[in-house]
Amino acid sequence: MVEGLPERGKIWYNGRFLDWKDAKVHVLAHGLHYGTGVFEGIRCYATDKGSFIFRLDDHIARLYRSAELYKMTIPYTKEELKNAIKDTIRINELDACYIRPIAFYGFHHLGVNPEGCPVDCAIAVWRWGTYLGEEALEKGIRCTFSSWRRIDPNTLPVTAKATGHYLNSLLAVLDAKERGFDEAIMLDNHGYVAEGPGENIFGVKDGLIYTPAIESSILPGITRASVIELARDMGYEVLEKRVKKEELLNADEAFFTGTAAEVSAIREIDGVKIGEGKRGKITEEIQRKFFDVVNAREERYMSWLEPV
Ligand SMILES: Cc1ncc(COP(=O)(O)O)c(C=O)c1O
Repeated sequence: MVEGLPERGKIWYNGRFLDWKDAKVHVLAHGLHYGTGVFEGIRCYATDKGSFIFRLDDHIARLYRSAELYKMTIPYTKEELKNAIKDTIRINELDACYIRPIAFYGFHHLGVNPEGCPVDCAIAVWRWGTYLGEEALEKGIRCTFSSWRRIDPNTLPVTAKATGHYLNSLLAVLDAKERGFDEAIMLDNHGYVAEGPGENIFGVKDGLIYTPAIESSILPGITRASVIELARDMGYEVLEKRVKKEELLNADEAFFTGTAAEVSAIREIDGVKIGEGKRGKITEEIQRKFFDVVNAREERYMSWLEPV
């Protein structure tokens, strides 16, 4: 059973702090009917040096870019929203949390054209552990290739993190769970590996690291970009390319990256062991580096951390 969210504290809603139970949306809100929202998932880490939000500017930039791709105008400046995020963390007295800002078309009329609908904005924060479980970080998870293809860039702007896009992710997750797997891996419309329903994917072969390129219909993950940079700084070669299903099955190691998933090892795909069927050495090394960085133990990457 998936655990519910803690219904306490305050939610920032259109510039005001409301009690958790009062932050409600009308049943005729445009976003509810047509999936017209854009959002982010961000993490704030409690470190020895204080609380830090990981790559806040990059997440805010992606949020506004997602809105632009859907011609939606967020009625706050980036700076205002950044400050609202920090205020929300402070007012809820959290040292570490998951942060969910969302902007969506609210209630005005019901037609596909959102003209006249307000753009409502909310920010919620809550304490959240590992997304795929502790086991995902250490032992690795069991995945399956989904029969549902990742949405195609000729259908939707796939680089936008938009609420409606997650119907595609939902189908892949439900299908994987029904068949007894921990997580799905989706292919793009051309049959190349794209990503997980909420994670980017990496493979390792003979010491070389690779990940599907933007051309494979992926969401350009901020954790993905961070891991590419960290791995290169660690001396690894990282390729962004088209990845075939078989190539991933033959990988020595594979792992997911994402704000929620952080760096999670993949130990098996459709019953085929990846490498030795456990978290690989390079995965572990990158994972360690990633956690050192987000926990403010790496001077070199402090610019990625925004103090609360
Ligand atoms: C579909 C999808 N791909 C990849 C990611 C990973 O992106 P990030 O590392 O920015 O969280 C996410 C999560 O936001 C996602 O929803």
